[in-house]
Amino acid sequence: MTMAMTTGASAGTTLGASAAEKGRYFGAAVAVNKLSTSAYTTILNREFNSVVAENEMKWASNEPQQGVFNHSSGDRLVSHAQANGMSVRGHTLLWHAQQPGWAQGMSGSALRNAAINHVTQVATHYRGKIYAWDVVNEAFADGGSGGRRDSNLQRTGNDWIEAAFRAARAADPGAKLCYNDYNTDGINAKSTGIYNMVRDFKSRGVPIDCVGFQSHLGTSLASDYQANLQRFADLGVDVQITELDVMTGGNQANIYGAVTRACLAVSRCTGITTWGVRDCDSWRGSDNALLFDCNGNKKAAYTAVLNALNAGTGTPTTPPPTTPPPTTPPPTTGGCSASVSLNSWNGGFVASVKVTAGSAGTNGWNVSVTLPSGASVTNTWSATASGSTGTVRFANVDYNGRLTAGQVAEFGFQGTGSGTGMTPTCTAS
Ligand code: XIL
Repeated sequence: MTMAMTTGASAGTTLGASAAEKGRYFGAAVAVNKLSTSAYTTILNREFNSVVAENEMKWASNEPQQGVFNHSSGDRLVSHAQANGMSVRGHTLLWHAQQPGWAQGMSGSALRNAAINHVTQVATHYRGKIYAWDVVNEAFADGGSGGRRDSNLQRTGNDWIEAAFRAARAADPGAKLCYNDYNTDGINAKSTGIYNMVRDFKSRGVPIDCVGFQSHLGTSLASDYQANLQRFADLGVDVQITELDVMTGGNQANIYGAVTRACLAVSRCTGITTWGVRDCDSWRGSDNALLFDCNGNKKAAYTAVLNALNAGTGTPTTPPPTTPPPTTPPPTTGGCSASVSLNSWNGGFVASVKVTAGSAGTNGWNVSVTLPSGASVTNTWSATASGSTGTVRFANVDYNGRLTAGQVAEFGFQGTGSGTGMTPTCTAS
């Protein structure tokens, strides 16, 4: 008697399921206010297993006034993703565009401090919830120079990008940290400039995990699209297609299919995101650049992507990241304890402080920190500081003073000079 055996991988019937069979994600940029449109959300939930906020996690959106953060739309997207088993890409911590007016008018160390504070606070807010952050977006110039784009951020010093990556790592050690750009869809002067930066970061231990290729494409695809992804992967970073959309026309389906095959052929290409769901959701207006038409029907481009996903082989060598294990709170008895983690750069630092309530809980707390000489506090969040040099006392604000036994509150401060060697002491009331 012969046994019938089932062999071969099953073919996924949605983009997300099929990508997942290949160890990857398939995502869409989401306009958060459309989550209440059922025609939109039906497609999103059926087809995609990753999301990114189209605008709502940008600087102008979530820090409209300096130090005043609004994460309501971003939080809404994260909740939707969590409820539907989707991963979240974070877009974007720093960019020359879509900055709030207050930042556009800043320069020098004031802007640098504000930018690093933004990175720290936003990445801290979303800690443990983001698969990958576009830490820096579009910092390289178009054209043949291969150099940086001029911007207010660039004018704070060439090291602004690495300072941002270090601050993001300190704030959310579990998120993959990406550099993201466009017109990098092949080996060209711009992609080579970025390649050289990534190689330099890797050699100096600047924390970078991935490079995003926006891939806003026209009517043809560079023949070395895959080779370009591969050369970045060979530097030891993941690569992701982060904002894919393709001009309509005879080639649209072919280009979508080719991009998908290129990603699957590069073992460190961990996923693809299209920049929207339906053609009418797209920022590209009449280009009809996406996989679903305005009525929500699947286009030929959709079929090309799905077929390419189902035909693909291999899984990324790096597994999707898991939420980092919670750090064990320091032992406490009555009172409270505090620990500090530091993210430093030449001339400044951001300190993140964890306050853990002892067995009796707290009604309020005070943390004293003695700063090294020459250091001073320039900015504090989620606590009120008295003094700025020498011994500085940080008191809880009204929403984070009351802690049950073992509960943790977090606050932070930014300083100039060196913050190395600070030992906080905590007193509960
Ligand atoms: C676009 C959004 O889609 C638009 O709604 C907004 O008006 C402008 O920004 N590169 C990026 C994205 O990194 O953030 C941009 O998104 C598209 C180009």
